[in-house]
Amino acid sequence: MKVLVVGSGGREHAFADYLQRSRHHPQIYVAPGNAGTEQIATNVPIAADDIDGLLNFAKSEDIDLTVVGPEVPLTLGIVDRFRANGSAIVGPTKAAAQLEGSKAFSKSFMNRHGIPTAAYRTFKSGDYDLAAAYVTEHGAPIVIKASGLAAGKGAVVCSDLKSALSTLEAMMRDHAFGAAGDESFMEGEEASIFALCDGTNYVLLPSAQDHKRVGENDTGPNTGGMGAYAPAPVIDDSLLEVIRHDIIEPTLAGMVGEGAPYTGFLYVGLMISDSHGPRVVEYNCRMGDPETQVVLPLVETDAVELFSACATGRLANTGIACRDGAAATVVLASEGYPGSYPKGRRIDGLVADDAASSMEAAGHDRPDWDRTYVYHAGTRRREDGSYETSGGRVLAVTAVGRDLQSALSKAYARVSSIHFDGAHYRRDIGFRGLARAEASSDA
Ligand code: GLY
Repeated sequence: MKVLVVGSGGREHAFADYLQRSRHHPQIYVAPGNAGTEQIATNVPIAADDIDGLLNFAKSEDIDLTVVGPEVPLTLGIVDRFRANGSAIVGPTKAAAQLEGSKAFSKSFMNRHGIPTAAYRTFKSGDYDLAAAYVTEHGAPIVIKASGLAAGKGAVVCSDLKSALSTLEAMMRDHAFGAAGDESFMEGEEASIFALCDGTNYVLLPSAQDHKRVGENDTGPNTGGMGAYAPAPVIDDSLLEVIRHDIIEPTLAGMVGEGAPYTGFLYVGLMISDSHGPRVVEYNCRMGDPETQVVLPLVETDAVELFSACATGRLANTGIACRDGAAATVVLASEGYPGSYPKGRRIDGLVADDAASSMEAAGHDRPDWDRTYVYHAGTRRREDGSYETSGGRVLAVTAVGRDLQSALSKAYARVSSIHFDGAHYRRDIGFRGLARAEASSDA
């Protein structure tokens, strides 16, 4: 069994790590991969957006199954191309990937299908003055979103008018992310839910909560995500039923009705508040990064069986099993991130078995609570075998524990043994989950 993972971040390292736990012992390839994936898979030097190159590789190597990490190849139609060639692949078609690729499409889709979200207005890129007038009249707080792809950084929650107007200017005048759309503010707590879909059926993975701002207490600019934990206790069992009924199922039925059945991972960013039911902040047509690094370590179902069932429309028979307990991940970032940052800084404290450690899990049916996983993102290998930084988000250090506190303690203990000049990370990952746990133990 040969499996190709497309992408090069911590998310793809987590996919490869999940696959290597499979009892089918697949041969894993990652294109283009990173310095972490090369420890557990074969890296293939083909860019994630080189659809022809990926398809040629899959054909020449007789790849049995391809799993796509990032959104760009999905919105370019990699799934359509592979399927036309008879190659099994996990991901949505180009038409279905519009749920992420076009915020204007996803907002009107939600309106058409009665899926709860906030009121919104969209503006074309030349209409900065109209958009600024709307934002000024609406006032803050307000959410401003780029309509196109923005690597998870395109939805900015602005708490005052000044920051709303400067965000709008960055998006529309400096074209930081392409066209923008404004949305009224949704109060509450953000959390995400992930469905793996085969067109008609779906399974839910553990929920998660990301930490998008660079600074503690959710301060500073947006990033791709500075840490995450799973499951998110804000989504309890009864809320999960509401999310299934009001959001996931109408979304999948809506996509079938519009002739674009949804396959692959559907990541639904939600706003949850006591005063109203859950509302959709955004859809993404992929797994989150760093959410994957906490969700997949909790999944017990065999990776090859789950992904094959997804690619062949058999999810209804497979289902999904997840471990009890919790996972937490802390992202170590380069100095200056999310702004410009230096590369080439030596990383100390990575040990040879950081990636291999999860191989010990192969065949285990029960959680190994002591395990930590160091997922590589912006790293590269030096000639002497050591590692150096090569990106903004450098590593995601994950631990699984009996509860959130124990997962966090283990993750932070491992973080403290890794060093590179200028490294920074948030020290409050999981604070909302911990507060909920404390409140429920007091009750
Ligand atoms: N962590 C946010 C995202 O993947 O979009």
